[in-house]
Amino acid sequence: MKTTISIIKADIGSVGGHIKTSDRVMDLCKKKLNEEKGKLIIDCYVTRCGDDVGLLMTHERGVDAKEIHSLAWETFKEGAELAKEQGLYAAGQDLLSDAFSGNVRGMGPGIAEMKIEERPAEVFVAFMADKTEASAFNLPLYEMFANPFSTAGLVLDPKLHDGFKFEVHDVKGSRKIILNTPEESYDLLSLIGLTDIYAIKRIFKKSGEIAAVASTEKVNLIAGRYVGKDDPAMLVRAQSGYPATGEVLDPFARPFLIAGWMRGSHRGPLMPVGEKEANPSRFDGPPRIIALAFSIKNGKLTGPVDAFSDVSFDDARRRANELANYMRRHGPFQPHLLPPGEMEYTTLPDVMKKLEGRFERL
Ligand code: F6R
Ligand code: MG
Ligand code: MG
Repeated sequence: MKTTISIIKADIGSVGGHIKTSDRVMDLCKKKLNEEKGKLIIDCYVTRCGDDVGLLMTHERGVDAKEIHSLAWETFKEGAELAKEQGLYAAGQDLLSDAFSGNVRGMGPGIAEMKIEERPAEVFVAFMADKTEASAFNLPLYEMFANPFSTAGLVLDPKLHDGFKFEVHDVKGSRKIILNTPEESYDLLSLIGLTDIYAIKRIFKKSGEIAAVASTEKVNLIAGRYVGKDDPAMLVRAQSGYPATGEVLDPFARPFLIAGWMRGSHRGPLMPVGEKEANPSRFDGPPRIIALAFSIKNGKLTGPVDAFSDVSFDDARRRANELANYMRRHGPFQPHLLPPGEMEYTTLPDVMKKLEGRFERL
């Protein structure tokens, strides 16, 4: 049996600023999806990271299925209505249009979906991050699937030894390329290190089976103006021919800097946290990531294990807080501040207009 796992996420409003989806909105989303269990979908799990709600659904309808996208869209719509009623902040922010045409792609929500032939004991990890963008996953995905100093299985496990294929999207140029590892690792790194341009969309085994998929929608580019960040979600298969769950999680134990945080305009550390701690409050951050590990059988989910709530990530959180202090020290200066093209908010055009006549030739 082929099972499809879909995670569709959106920011439809939050409590006390951009911190946390409300419990009532979460309950509404859970109720909406649960009503479709055994009908449209096999199983579901509703989660959130910061101000983003994630709808994880399993079904048999394949990727980009109209009925599934429509269920997500209707759920977000109703959630946004309730958020408005509650006076939540930025209610309905990521729902960019009223005219749903069968696919949520390009309409605001982020989407990561994979159709798989379940293994006898299928394992996957669902990630959601807040106050950042899809390319924040470039570094950890490279480590999981191509760095033997991180994933021991690349060296030790014959089933991983062949390496993987990376589908990389040029999010500004609307084009994609597939690169093989380990053969083309350096070419791959020259692209994915440029996180303002390239984002890893999918990873495949050399035999073609899907290994990972991330949402790469750029809300701000879609809307043509600032409407919020493209906070990403991703699904990663684990164990037995894929990196072990522990290898999938290990890159996050070494905090690294990513773009996002306050006003989508700052570099800061990505902090791995448990579901309950995904409430980015200091300077609207630091950016958070959650990891939920599931088992799945005939589409039925068992779990999740809230992987980053484990004490082994305490030190990563402590170091992320140290990095946060260090980056905050720079205030409005780079490298804390992002370069002009990457900022989601900027008064620079207005300042330049005002000062234009006062510049003198050197
Ligand atoms: C938005 C976000 C926040 C806001 C900031 C300012 O997703 O992450 O950092 O950019 O709180 O929000 P406004 O302009 O709505 O007051
Ligand atoms: Mg927000
Ligand atoms: Mg968000």
